[in-house]
Amino acid sequence: MTNNRKWRMGLVGGGPGAFIGPVHKMAAELDGRIELVAGAFSQSAEKSRAAGQAFRIDSARAYASYGEMLEAERSRPDAIDFVVIATPNSTHFAVAKAALEAGFPVMSDKPATMTYAEALALEKIVAKSGLPYGLTHTYAGYALVREARNICASGQLGKIRKIAIDYLQGWLSQPIETTGQKQAAWRSDPAFNGPGGCIGDIGVHAFHLVEYVTGLKVTALSAVLRSVVPGRRLDDDCTAFLRLDNGASGTLNASQIATGERNAVRLRVYGENGSVDWQQEDPNYLHVKWADRPEEIRHAAASYLSADARAVTRLPGGHPEGYIEAFAVLYREFADVLDARAAGGPSPLPPTLPGIEAAVRGMRFIELGIESSHLQRWLDF
Ligand code: NAI
Repeated sequence: MTNNRKWRMGLVGGGPGAFIGPVHKMAAELDGRIELVAGAFSQSAEKSRAAGQAFRIDSARAYASYGEMLEAERSRPDAIDFVVIATPNSTHFAVAKAALEAGFPVMSDKPATMTYAEALALEKIVAKSGLPYGLTHTYAGYALVREARNICASGQLGKIRKIAIDYLQGWLSQPIETTGQKQAAWRSDPAFNGPGGCIGDIGVHAFHLVEYVTGLKVTALSAVLRSVVPGRRLDDDCTAFLRLDNGASGTLNASQIATGERNAVRLRVYGENGSVDWQQEDPNYLHVKWADRPEEIRHAAASYLSADARAVTRLPGGHPEGYIEAFAVLYREFADVLDARAAGGPSPLPPTLPGIEAAVRGMRFIELGIESSHLQRWLDF
């Protein structure tokens, strides 16, 4: 059967004033294959209704809780096809479990769960359900991240020897969680955020990007986590040394007290023959540096890019694509999986789309980072 309609999405989170829920809607709908039709946008029924109105969905499908949404949608002929999770971390596991057990595929935001134990439990639930589970590590959707990944896999850089990943933000340089700033408030509260502050919020993206681009696995780490802002209950600064399975070493520098920085993600991978250097705030360019020839600056949409990079570019060169487009690449790949499933064929996630394996490794990274910092020593994965 060929799918000739849009896939119907039910969003959990994304209520009034939320950051990433509306981004999920924009990204999911960008390529015209998915539409938001239902949601439990807030824990408050009134706010959920208000969000439903703002999103212009049928008011009957703006639910007061995700439990109500799953129950009501199951019996509709035009039921949602999958569930998106864009709530604070403490709810990710419960929502994913409930959705999968009710028969709905899941696209979840990171970190996948609150704890590593929950991630292991989720892995079993995903396997048992046989349903697609995707994880929105946004940076994996950028064309030039795909290009860097391709260059690493091709062996052109030679043996990879050194990796430097920075993810620097400055928005938590002051105790804004005490002023009622919504995003900072729950991120600074272990009950809603989980035990890893900066390491869980952005360190996990950095960790994922390292393994995603290099194809290597981190085998050990030594981390130092600090709560720099007085009174803050969770870490707001994370520095880690990484050891990788080919013998390479890496530094992971994530901070939310890097005053003046916005969303400065920068990945550098150094091999014997050359290196790649990509920065998220200038995402349409990839610097490729060689030992024996001039530096190249590759740009998005160029005909010379790898097929992997060209496949995720929508516009001709010079028309900048950014965060939402990268996010939308992950949704496009998820829609491919739903298409394959509807056609009755096998529907594993493509290797380019992060899923449950990335979820489990990311949560292991957070847990080990916290423990390593506490014990002040290296720990094996
Ligand atoms: P936010 O605080 O802006 O939004 C969370 C929303 O979830 C709010 O509308 C809140 O009312 C709602 N909510 C809370 N509990 C709920 C429940 N039980 N049922 C329904 N709705 C509920 O938070 P933000 O910044 O949007 O983050 C949400 C998640 O997305 C976090 O896990 C965060 O780590 C992740 N995130 C991922 C990003 C990425 O680049 N992939 C970027 C930003 C956030």
